[in-house]
Amino acid sequence: MNDLFLRACRGEAVERTPVWMMRQAGRYLAEYRAVRAKADFLTLCKTPELAAEVTVQPVDLVGVDAAIIFADILLPLEAMGAELRFVQGDGPVFPDPVRRAEDLGRLRRADVDATLGYVFDALRVTRRELAGRVPLIGFAGTPWTLAAYLVEGGTSKQFTHLLEWSYRDAAGLRRLLDLIAEVTVDYLLGQVAAGAQALQLFDTWGGLLSAERWREVAAPSLVRVLEAVRQGAPGVPLIYYVHGGAHLLEASAELPVEVLSVDWRMPLSEVRRRVGTQRVLQGNLDPAVLLGPIADVEARTEAMLRDGAGGGHVANLGHGIFKQTDPDHARAFVAAVKRLSPALRGA
Ligand code: CP3
Repeated sequence: MNDLFLRACRGEAVERTPVWMMRQAGRYLAEYRAVRAKADFLTLCKTPELAAEVTVQPVDLVGVDAAIIFADILLPLEAMGAELRFVQGDGPVFPDPVRRAEDLGRLRRADVDATLGYVFDALRVTRRELAGRVPLIGFAGTPWTLAAYLVEGGTSKQFTHLLEWSYRDAAGLRRLLDLIAEVTVDYLLGQVAAGAQALQLFDTWGGLLSAERWREVAAPSLVRVLEAVRQGAPGVPLIYYVHGGAHLLEASAELPVEVLSVDWRMPLSEVRRRVGTQRVLQGNLDPAVLLGPIADVEARTEAMLRDGAGGGHVANLGHGIFKQTDPDHARAFVAAVKRLSPALRGA
């Protein structure tokens, strides 16, 4: 079993830096597009054999050291009763957004086995197909980031509905975040029972908030999730990813997680100075680097590895891989980490 990724997450000394990529199963791979041609995105998520197939693709085709289950952070909101559509070109849409306390009656505490069992089935099939080649990561969105989509009704530039609610009726919004948190605990523990070996929490919109407001509004429900999962699934590494969150580093270093996953806006060495050496860092190559020439991909990957060598490190991109990426450039990134990191560890 290649458990390099799990050992690195736990902060153990490793022979080289493990590497995987956010959104590694996706449209930049022709093999993904071929499967996707047969099924729309939600059907793909809900068909365990197909979800498992695309989950394993980047392990075979790109050589990553971990698989992440093919699903979406928004699926639990659908399970809670919110209608969810993926519209070609527009991304996710919630036609009936939840914007005030009175709307909470439309949501329920989902029974995750009944409503999200297809994700658990996909995890079981994937573990069987991986046969120990690499560990399998499960995931969820943070309550704040899920609320951002549900309240806005989809992606947004300014998140005015969400921010308005947070100032107008903080207690009402807290009820939404707590309800999402309860379902998320069951969902993540269900993923571990079905075979997930590490868990990543995606906080794509945590960076909207100042550190003070993040502590006040977003962190309590997130901490509840992390503590409950830590208790229910001891020993499973927890990863917190925040996008645009350089100003949240000191605050996020207080979270009960092994790994902090950061975007490219701040060098890993500076992140390390801010959060200390207790946390393993994951990241943080700018995904746009993979759009440039391979020689540049290699040089910038080497620079990132040198910069991250002062402590535990899992190599990754700073956000999801772009669908325009040439798979050869993704392979060059992964190969560069494997080739260069043994000599750079502890450099
Ligand atoms: O390979 C993997 O990383 C595993 C699968 C995965 C997907 N989404 C598949 C997906 C994961 C971990 C996610 C997380 C996710 N989903 C996040 C957090 C990470 C981030 O990007 O900040 C968010 C915000 C979402 C919500 C979401 N899903 C959006 C905004 C979109 C539309 C944007 C886009 O890229 O098209 C999706 C769709 C989506 N999720 C796709 C994939 C492969 C593209 C769907 C397709 O094939 O048409």
